[in-house]
Amino acid sequence: MTAPRKLHIKSYGCQMNVYDAQRMVDTLAPEGFVETANADDADLVILNTCHIREKASEKVYSELGRLRTAKDEAARNGREMKIAVAGCVAQAEGSEIIRRAPVVDVVVGPQSYHHLPQLLAKAKTDGRAVETEFPVEDKFASLPDPKPAMIRARGISSFVTVQEGCDKFCTFCVVPYTRGMEVSRPVARIVDDVKRLADNGVREITLIGQNVNAFHGEGENGKPWSLGQLLHRLADIPGIVRLRYSTSHPRDVDEALIEAHRDIPAVMPFVHLPVQSGSDRILEAMNRKHTAADYARTVERFRKVREDIAFSSDFIVGFPGETEEDFSATLALVRQISYAGAYSFKYSPRPGTPAADMQETVTTTVMDERLARLQELIDSQQAAFNAAVIGKTVDVLFERAARNPGQIVGRTAYLQPAHVMASPDIIGQVLPVAVESLERYSLIGALAGADVSPVSSPKISQPANTSLSAMTTGA
Ligand code: SAH
Ligand code: SF4
Ligand code: F3S
Repeated sequence: MTAPRKLHIKSYGCQMNVYDAQRMVDTLAPEGFVETANADDADLVILNTCHIREKASEKVYSELGRLRTAKDEAARNGREMKIAVAGCVAQAEGSEIIRRAPVVDVVVGPQSYHHLPQLLAKAKTDGRAVETEFPVEDKFASLPDPKPAMIRARGISSFVTVQEGCDKFCTFCVVPYTRGMEVSRPVARIVDDVKRLADNGVREITLIGQNVNAFHGEGENGKPWSLGQLLHRLADIPGIVRLRYSTSHPRDVDEALIEAHRDIPAVMPFVHLPVQSGSDRILEAMNRKHTAADYARTVERFRKVREDIAFSSDFIVGFPGETEEDFSATLALVRQISYAGAYSFKYSPRPGTPAADMQETVTTTVMDERLARLQELIDSQQAAFNAAVIGKTVDVLFERAARNPGQIVGRTAYLQPAHVMASPDIIGQVLPVAVESLERYSLIGALAGADVSPVSSPKISQPANTSLSAMTTGA
């Protein structure tokens, strides 16, 4: 038997890349690859890249510089190190990578990584291999299932891709070009995946997609199902106690999704709903296809069915043409909605997108200043949201042993980390925690009540926790 080959994957960017990296490990496991945390002693290093902003994209080339030294060092020791670039930069700049970085052996786009074994073989014979087509066959159908031991090692919370690609063409965004057109997976395949995960200890599923609520996969009755219908089906799978989904587009929120929040206890009352800007003029220039008022109404529709629901968002400051007045509208919308948290970014012009041809009007200094003001407001809302839980009892799904001996860490419905002193037996269970204090972003508390019976029922009840409702005001 040959010695296992070592594989190191470094992922940048979004949750989809995290998921893809796991699937690359699954794809290469039958080839004898095992993961290593250290790039220097790997036989194969994969950079799973992100193209969303210039900074993310440029990281690839600096990382490849470092890897060249490691590859040379390996060669001096009589060892061969192969280097692959995967992900969205591979898709967008495949030929440039080959030209700029001779150290790279394989370039593989996000829709082709199920061909990694063949591409590695090709690189061995031909020197280098590139695949950035959008192949006609379904990548998911060709990916080997993860081994039970691998699922268990990855923990009790798992991502599952249900939808990929995007047809929205926001003027600033590369995703429609790097991930291709919107494609939804069939419900039966998703159900198989979730059952396999649940059978191996997974309790929480986050359904992911670049535009997850545009999901319209073939249902079990042969008709297209919405995300709301899918959530109903998955909530019936024994072992699954929490369901989340990310990322949603405000335009694609339908009644079935809102009702899923009302009717399915496992669907968590926390929604990432990016708005990007609060100015209608800028939203129009971004081609978001909704106004700030439409967005606020959508948020209200959710809040009507679940008063304890909380929101997070993404914002871009300094989009071409953004005036102080436009930016004030963004701050006003943030005040109106009151977020549990949000990501905010300085606009980065991306080659090939319509916005890259627009006249940039906002200086770096003004962008920095707007970003700081926006982040200060969001931080204060997040701090208030987190502080509101002190003294309350909240449900926590326990995930793993914490760094401090004896402590177990889990997450609340709102993904706040919560630490308690307890036996590791509670991992995988949802238990009430009396929250005593807040240390940075982590809640510290104690298990409420002595009754720590194991979770065995398919749907763990997540009662609309009135103690949390105060948190949505964020004030
Ligand atoms: N599909 C998701 C988000 C995809 S990208 C959605 O529709 O919201 C994640 C975030 O990166 C975006 O929400 C946006 O805030 C940010 N982003 C995308 N392109 C950007 C760019 N060119 N410059 C700055 N931020 C950008
Ligand atoms: Fe990009 Fe817009 Fe699609 Fe989101 S909806 S992935 S921001 S094009
Ligand atoms: Fe980045 Fe591609 Fe995700 S560009 S954000 S890795 S879809």
